[in-house]
Amino acid sequence: MKKIEFSKSFQVENRDADADEKTKYCTVEWSNSNHSELANLIQEKMAQKSNLNVLEIGVDRNAGDSSTKCFKSNLRHEDKYLGVDIADRSHIIEGNRINFVQTDAKDYQKVLEKLTGLNMLPIDILFIDGWHSLNQVLAELEYVQYMNDDGIIILHDTNGHPGPREVIRCIDKKEWDVRNHCPQENDYGLSSIRSR
Ligand SMILES: C[S@@+](CC[C@H](N)C(=O)[O-])C[C@H]1O[C@@H](n2cnc3c(N)ncnc32)[C@H](O)[C@@H]1O
Repeated sequence: MKKIEFSKSFQVENRDADADEKTKYCTVEWSNSNHSELANLIQEKMAQKSNLNVLEIGVDRNAGDSSTKCFKSNLRHEDKYLGVDIADRSHIIEGNRINFVQTDAKDYQKVLEKLTGLNMLPIDILFIDGWHSLNQVLAELEYVQYMNDDGIIILHDTNGHPGPREVIRCIDKKEWDVRNHCPQENDYGLSSIRSR
């Protein structure tokens, strides 16, 4: 997939900060609407293609519902998933289908070696929900070059956290179709990006 370009300048005080003021209204980390909207996007991709490759950055942090659980319950046996997290989330592993690598998402060599070994390139769905600073999210968007042209990038926390919010606000909308699936103020937000 082509490189993401931005048509506006980023407005963040600290490019390495994860959270800001706007997140104070959000009470549920992974809402029911986040779950149903992500499930819809997964179903949409599954209707287009068999053997999907999914890369998730930031994996299953809490005991309750999560994006990871949404992927695990929706993906088919032939689809492949790789989760990347700096913390140990190896409890998610399921046979050859659901895989995990413990590392910083910026360790491209380690993540790409794992994706290659699992025969998971190119990527069809890139889900970004790790450290939410602008610098980290921009670094994670480097994986876009390893995606199919018709792949979909999905970001959680696009309503408040600085990195996801600024990426969605500033991305060049002439080149990219950007949709906020959960715009309500008390939700952390879930947005998708597709190449036009
Ligand atoms: C908000 S949680 C979301 C996890 C998951 N998507 C969910 O719904 O539970 C963010 C996760 O990102 C991980 N994380 C933070 N910085 C990271 C980095 N640099 N590389 C990879 N993972 C990171 C954290 O350990 C944490 O598990």
